[in-house]
Amino acid sequence: MIDIVEGFEDMVIYDDAKCAFKGELLLYLAKKHDLHTFVETGTYAGEMVKYVNARYNFDRIYSIELSERLAARADKLFQDASNVFIIHGASEESLKGIRQTEPFLYWLDAHYCGDDVTAMGEKITPVYEELEVILNETDHVIVIDDLDNFHTWGVYGRQLAEFIKSKKDVELSVVDTMLIIQPRKI
Ligand SMILES: C[S@@+](CC[C@H](N)C(=O)[O-])C[C@H]1O[C@@H](n2cnc3c(N)ncnc32)[C@H](O)[C@@H]1O
Repeated sequence: MIDIVEGFEDMVIYDDAKCAFKGELLLYLAKKHDLHTFVETGTYAGEMVKYVNARYNFDRIYSIELSERLAARADKLFQDASNVFIIHGASEESLKGIRQTEPFLYWLDAHYCGDDVTAMGEKITPVYEELEVILNETDHVIVIDDLDNFHTWGVYGRQLAEFIKSKKDVELSVVDTMLIIQPRKI
């Protein structure tokens, strides 16, 4: 259920009916790879931050949101969670500022949703630019959402997979609308 945040009641925000399904996959990967930092691009209502933070002991959760108002709302929503950091900015730039100390769990979900609430950056989805930043770093676990919509934004699954493979020798798999990138087992 979407929280009511004082001062932001006018914002029309929707539930993601699949939040728990997606969240459980993220938690499975966090446990499997023993990951302690969660990084989300596209905060929106903060539902995924809330879901994973309530069920897993992440040391740090970073969530990056381009919309100033959504970021301010999330800031207020998580003001008492000392491990949650809401970053206002374009994910493709803000990701560069998060210091890497160990492998992270990334949830790449930044995109414009075609409404009056979400923000439109230079592109509908900055997924290629985000991957440019992340794949050059240590062996993270990355989940990209909304594969089913990508073709409408000019991003095609096969090219995306080839781009990822050209950057790093990783294991790719698909669950529902999500592309999962994991370090290859030795
Ligand atoms: C689908 S919603 C995110 C849902 C959220 N991750 C969840 O799981 O509950 C996409 C969000 O990405 C934001 N967004 C769009 N372009 C962005 C960008 N370049 N950087 C950061 N956020 C962006 C939109 O404003 C919107 O709030």
